[in-house]
Amino acid sequence: MPLQESACKPENVSNEDAIACWERAAGEFAAFFAEGPEFWHAHVINPCLLDLLGDVRGKAVLDLACGEGHLARELVARAGDDVEIHGVDASQTMIRIAREKSAGVAGRLAFHIADAAALTTFPPACFDVAVCNMALMDIKDYRGAIAEVARTLKQGGIFVFSLLHPCIFTPGSGWLTDDDGTITGWRVDGYTARCVTKGRVKRGMTFQTYNFHRPLEDYAGALADHGFAITAMREPAPSDDLVAANPRLAHDLPQGSFLVVRCARLG
Ligand SMILES: C[S@@+](CC[C@H](N)C(=O)[O-])C[C@H]1O[C@@H](n2cnc3c(N)ncnc32)[C@H](O)[C@@H]1O
Repeated sequence: MPLQESACKPENVSNEDAIACWERAAGEFAAFFAEGPEFWHAHVINPCLLDLLGDVRGKAVLDLACGEGHLARELVARAGDDVEIHGVDASQTMIRIAREKSAGVAGRLAFHIADAAALTTFPPACFDVAVCNMALMDIKDYRGAIAEVARTLKQGGIFVFSLLHPCIFTPGSGWLTDDDGTITGWRVDGYTARCVTKGRVKRGMTFQTYNFHRPLEDYAGALADHGFAITAMREPAPSDDLVAANPRLAHDLPQGSFLVVRCARLG
């Protein structure tokens, strides 16, 4: 099965171009969070991520590639003044929206414009917890980002991240249909190809962003190289009740769409 037509080598996409795409898409993407987290974040991803993050009271938290800041606000809602959250994103528009949406939020919450792989405003070992929600696959220099998480986390600190599951979403994946157009399954191919595809992260969006596909061993290798041990791995899926209430889910995303990982910084 051929890779998607738009697939190309990661070296053919510059970091600046990848970030510029997100800058153009920021307003449209943030609009999906107008009433709170969009559907998949609200019902599947965030509950799992928050469970793995645990109690953040008394902690300094980095929300890397924070987008419009919904997770940071949720953490403040949970921990009040007893948490310090720093949201970071490379998109200026995303950070402007995050600041606007957080203006009325009482708590120690700050947003910064920065590349995930260059967190120069933060000193070493300043965070207890880091989180990166649905963004590492959008970041060209994921190894640099993981290195910066390791540098800014205290020893023993935890890093929780979520991904579009790289074993399910591959450069050759897509729905299989019969002659009538009825969905019969989900094809996975091109898993080991390290490449970039461009597309719309949400149906209905105009602007496209890059997805950097890497097999799991690349993420595991980068984590190990920077002193992380994986302590939990989850593959959250919609509950039976959620599927019964939303029949469209069966044809929206395939089963096993998300991966959530918790690591501890050992050394
Ligand atoms: C799919 S969005 C996820 C946003 C947010 N974490 C959420 O769950 O809603 C990916 C985010 O990664 C950000 N991003 C992409 N490349 C980045 C980079 N090199 N450094 C920092 N942020 C980056 C984008 O601007 C965007 O806000």
